[in-house]
Amino acid sequence: FIIYGVCFFTPSRKDPDCTFSKAAVATDSGKCSEIGRDILQKGGSAVDAAIAALLCTSIINPQSAGIGGGVIFTVMDSSGKVKIITSRETVPKNVTSDLLKLCPNTTEWTVEWKQDSRWIGVPGEIRGYEAAHRLYGKLPWADLFQPTIKLAREGFPIPYYQGHYIPRINNTSIRKLYLDKNGNLLKTGDIVKFEKLADTLETIANEGPDVFYNGTIAKNLTSDIQKAGGKLTLEDLELYEAKVTDAWNISLGEYRMYFPPPPLGGAILSFILNIMKGYKMNSEPNATDEKILFYHRYIEALKFANGLKKYIRDPNFSSDKMAKNLTEDSFADNIRSLISSDKTHDPQYYGDTPCLDSIGTTHVSVLAEDGSAVSVTSTINDEFGSKVLSPSTGIILNNQLFDFCNRANRTSHGERPPSNMAPSVLKSQSKTLVIGGSGAEMIPPAVASALMNHLWFGKSLKEAIDTPVLFVNCQSEVKLESKLEKDIVDGLEAKGHKITQFYNTVNAVEKAGSCISAWSDKRKKGEPAGY
Ligand SMILES: *[C@@H]1O[C@H](CO)[C@@H](O)[C@H](O)[C@H]1NC(C)=O
Ligand SMILES: *[C@@H]1O[C@H](CO)[C@@H](O)[C@H](O)[C@H]1NC(C)=O
Ligand SMILES: *[C@@H]1O[C@H](CO)[C@@H](O)[C@H](O)[C@H]1NC(C)=O
Ligand SMILES: *[C@@H]1O[C@H](CO)[C@@H](O)[C@H](O)[C@H]1NC(C)=O
Ligand SMILES: *[C@@H]1O[C@H](CO)[C@@H](O)[C@H](O)[C@H]1NC(C)=O
Ligand SMILES: *[C@@H]1O[C@H](CO)[C@@H](O)[C@H](O)[C@H]1NC(C)=O
Ligand SMILES: *[C@@H]1O[C@H](CO)[C@@H](O)[C@H](O)[C@H]1NC(C)=O
Ligand SMILES: *[C@@H]1O[C@H](CO)[C@@H](O)[C@H](O)[C@H]1NC(C)=O
Ligand SMILES: *[C@@H]1O[C@H](CO)[C@@H](O)[C@H](O)[C@H]1NC(C)=O
Ligand SMILES: *[C@@H]1O[C@H](CO)[C@@H](O)[C@H](O)[C@H]1NC(C)=O
Ligand SMILES: *[C@@H]1O[C@H](CO)[C@@H](O)[C@H](O)[C@H]1NC(C)=O
Repeated sequence: FIIYGVCFFTPSRKDPDCTFSKAAVATDSGKCSEIGRDILQKGGSAVDAAIAALLCTSIINPQSAGIGGGVIFTVMDSSGKVKIITSRETVPKNVTSDLLKLCPNTTEWTVEWKQDSRWIGVPGEIRGYEAAHRLYGKLPWADLFQPTIKLAREGFPIPYYQGHYIPRINNTSIRKLYLDKNGNLLKTGDIVKFEKLADTLETIANEGPDVFYNGTIAKNLTSDIQKAGGKLTLEDLELYEAKVTDAWNISLGEYRMYFPPPPLGGAILSFILNIMKGYKMNSEPNATDEKILFYHRYIEALKFANGLKKYIRDPNFSSDKMAKNLTEDSFADNIRSLISSDKTHDPQYYGDTPCLDSIGTTHVSVLAEDGSAVSVTSTINDEFGSKVLSPSTGIILNNQLFDFCNRANRTSHGERPPSNMAPSVLKSQSKTLVIGGSGAEMIPPAVASALMNHLWFGKSLKEAIDTPVLFVNCQSEVKLESKLEKDIVDGLEAKGHKITQFYNTVNAVEKAGSCISAWSDKRKKGEPAGY
């Protein structure tokens, strides 16, 4: 899904997208954007709002993200200084490299392969919130949890996308969350409550993050995971740490773009943009042949980007320094010279990295009144993660270790798997753009597309995010987003048709002078909020 916000650059020009004047939050749902906005209005920081919005997302879109997963924050403070907080899941101590023998080959596999407790990594989400809150929080920790605890206890009508995934949980332990009195599965519009999770969130709110990592929740969670066949131990949780680092950056026209270093996907996103900026496009291609050439070059850049993903590894466990090269202009210049205008090449030409497509994830963009910004992406990996529910805590566990498949021959204790996530903040003299996406392999292409359409082609954030997205999948096939109206797609699905849908979203907020725009991707039926 994609959510962005855009303002036009000349203040005199009347911009219908310029909806807010002080602050805004863009998430995958109107409810969670409002919760984030309310936190800002109570005096909370951008980080406070982001944490509250993410907690809300863990029940509005529990298939995408939650406290059983991991999170990456890109935070710009009001002075313009940027920090990265990484609390992506790590490899538990008892997991051996034999794990990767479980990886399917790239040609024949099904989703069931990923529904396995052995892919569960050490959840980092709460340690990430803790580190971000310690550095940038203004409101008390517990206040960030209250709106979600209330919503989880009182219940709410199941939103479209949550409902969409319920029939696909089959006979997994997630099923317990969605049974009515008669043992039938709930569906979109029915009231759902998350009472166990509400208790867990209340305990974390009142007792602090240590209860999750070295307290009663840690004990219950590891015992549940081990019963389900997973390897996680109390020691893994006790030793887990979030990591605070500097952002990487590239120059993009008048902007500097900040993004997280490996094992996140920012280097891949920056590579795609560096390739495309060399074509010096400053307006939208209009004629058919210009459009074809633009898309052709873009697809070629994406093919090279896929080939370069093999260099994205946890820097603590890899001596390879190539990832940094991917962000350099000279590197992009070299690769651009290998792109032919008239034809494409065999996959080997691009140094193809074999991969396995996955989906999931959520993104939140926040811009606060003081000019500080948070771009944060959170995930449990695939839809409902490993599809393992911890019954005693209500937590849904990630399947993040699957991301090592085809990207590594061995894993080490404590290593973080490579990722496509790229929560970014762009800053110029007078403007701030907070942007990021969800949808695994689709994230770098979707965010790059939004940025090109907005920054270079002059489209509003809304138009830029609405622009149909394409990506190159793991089999080097180009996947075009259906141009069918969403309502028609929904209608066809309601009739039982199976439609291959994209699961990318970009959520963005932009500030230009006193104009703040926010846009939440309609693909996930998102809504921004602000004031
Ligand atoms: C992929 O795995 C399937 C079943 O595990 C096997 O039959 C097939 O030969 C494998 N294909 C390749 C290309 O290794
Ligand atoms: C659910 O079960 C059906 C039938 O066994 C299978 O075809 C489908 O792939 C399963 N879906 C998921 C998400 O596991
Ligand atoms: C569903 O799972 C339960 C226990 O996990 C098992 O007893 C039952 O037979 C399964 N049902 C089907 C249809 O696979
Ligand atoms: C975990 O809790 C125990 C008992 O309260 C304490 O001794 C230990 O130092 C804690 N570990 C960490 C890493 O905080
Ligand atoms: C982890 O490894 C230790 C030492 O080998 C073993 O005693 C323990 O049972 C293992 N725990 C799990 C959950 O695999
Ligand atoms: C951008 O990154 C370079 C290292 O590649 C660093 O030296 C520089 O300070 C960064 N710039 C900003 C504005 O953070
Ligand atoms: C495309 O059309 C727009 C408005 O009609 C114009 O501003 C722009 O310059 C044109 N782009 C090119 C590449 O011709
Ligand atoms: C990872 O690297 C950082 C510095 O970049 C270092 O402080 C830390 O100890 C390393 N961690 C591991 C597990 O190697
Ligand atoms: C990567 O960058 C380093 C330092 O700039 C350079 O020495 C090296 O040749 C580069 N490697 C490649 C393959 O471009
Ligand atoms: C731990 O699990 C027990 C047994 O299911 C439950 O009664 C208790 O409430 C749980 N405590 C926490 C903090 O999750
Ligand atoms: C894994 O090892 C094989 C054989 O040594 C090698 O060809 C391949 O490139 C390695 N894959 C990764 C992802 O490192």
